[in-house]
Amino acid sequence: MLANADVADDISHGSGLKRTLSVRDLTFFGIAAIIGAGSFSSMGSACASGGPGVIILFMLCGVACGFTAMCYAEFASRIPVAGSAYTYAYTSFGEIIAWIIGWALLMEYSIGNIYVAFAWSDYFENLLNLIGVHMPSWTTTNYRAAHAELGDAWTQAPVIGGLHIIFDLPALLINFLITWLVYVGVQESKNVSNLMVMVKLSIIVLVIAVGIFYIDIDNWTPINDLGERSFMPNGFGGVMAGVAAVFFAYIGFDAVSTMAEEAKNPQRDLPRGMIYSLVICTIVYIILSLVLTGMAYYKDLAVGDPLAEVFKMHDVGWMEAIISIAAVAAMTSVILVFQMGQPRIWMSMSRDGLLPKKFEEIHPKYKTPGFSTIVTGLVVGIPILFTDETFVLDFTSIATLFAFVLVCGGILLIPRRPKEKGKFHLPYINARLVFPGILALAIVILSVTPATQQYFPNLFDFSDPALVTAHVTTIIFWLLCVTLAVFAFIKNWSLIPLMGLVTCSYLLTGMTARNWLWFFVWFAIGLVVYFAYGRRHSRLNPQKAA
Ligand code: ALA
Repeated sequence: MLANADVADDISHGSGLKRTLSVRDLTFFGIAAIIGAGSFSSMGSACASGGPGVIILFMLCGVACGFTAMCYAEFASRIPVAGSAYTYAYTSFGEIIAWIIGWALLMEYSIGNIYVAFAWSDYFENLLNLIGVHMPSWTTTNYRAAHAELGDAWTQAPVIGGLHIIFDLPALLINFLITWLVYVGVQESKNVSNLMVMVKLSIIVLVIAVGIFYIDIDNWTPINDLGERSFMPNGFGGVMAGVAAVFFAYIGFDAVSTMAEEAKNPQRDLPRGMIYSLVICTIVYIILSLVLTGMAYYKDLAVGDPLAEVFKMHDVGWMEAIISIAAVAAMTSVILVFQMGQPRIWMSMSRDGLLPKKFEEIHPKYKTPGFSTIVTGLVVGIPILFTDETFVLDFTSIATLFAFVLVCGGILLIPRRPKEKGKFHLPYINARLVFPGILALAIVILSVTPATQQYFPNLFDFSDPALVTAHVTTIIFWLLCVTLAVFAFIKNWSLIPLMGLVTCSYLLTGMTARNWLWFFVWFAIGLVVYFAYGRRHSRLNPQKAA
């Protein structure tokens, strides 16, 4: 397999997939994957905890993803094969870290899709209600949520042998339909996805254009529980509490890299597709969060359909239907792209022997990874019956951030290469002095800012259990920064991947103890699977080769 980056070019050929995607298609693919449940659903909870200050978090996530996208782009231009971050980690760190990334990407693509399917179902139900069709609530709710609420879904559900029959039928159906679409081919999927991107972008522009007229600038400095007006009514802690939700909104630009074997000119077009789509979405998010927090009091945004809700508040009823249509289109395209990405990562892992050979099989007629596609459908579909939105949202964001940290770290480890015509090349800025300088500046700014002046002395106070995780992760973060500054100085590291690593690590400090617990459990299961199967079947395993 990819013992080093230089041989990687040879592997991009002969996979059996059809090369049909241009830079425009790849950019559309990126947007298709990025704008979805994050903007139509989870943005609401982030605004409700952070207030208008959540815009800072959108910028921060945009910057972190921007640095990471540059690293993805560099890898994609060196190694144009379909495995995305998994393949890149193989090249830079070796097999076990590659496996861990592949395992983390399962969270991003498949588990992320569960959240999107749930959010899709909410908006789809909205649409049905608008045309007068009402499904029983036990067929539109997941079991865990119904059990927690003990509302209509629970009381009206049929009971068989003591078990309440409750399931989210629209979420299951959309997963089934998309799995089928992806199974029958990329060309068909591309057309559907491009159409949905046009719909969602047009309607988001409409939301912004109409919403601007309903902005009340007082909402940008709302009165908080202490009776003070503030841009960040719950402080920076309130803003950071939305990190999983906001980061989730950005996930997806990296899915473009899984299309390496279907792109016409992957080394030039994959990087462009990723970067263009990320820039467009970052601009959209910043404007959208400004409009949203300007249109309503921040606490009123704690709903599952915030974009529809703000227009309802202002009695602009006709926008509700339009937004519900856009949300359904937007989320369909996210599910579609992720459902295409996951099998392609498994295909790469299978080629390396880390998964059974069946996962790399290409369907003779449709030229798609058929078996992997069906397994993806099951991995998304079965948990829809057992899990809920919050759990999958947090889980997806922490695992994806972890994968991003490793991708940026990977670029620091592989040797630099000369610029080649027609291929993306990551600009090299020597971080030797710049990074320690940035770090020193950040420390000075933070220590003279009143809010952080109060926070930092408390960092070693572990008496408040609710803050222990934030304090521990923040201390680890600063120690990491100092260590990286030393290495940057000694090894003349490149600034862009280093900043990607640092900003993504910073976002990880916003994760809760529960997120970390589940993440480590998942991680441990991954290692057991690796040692039980992957290591023994790896094509690089010397014992096996002998
Ligand atoms: N960024 C994607 C979404 O918001 C995952 O749905």
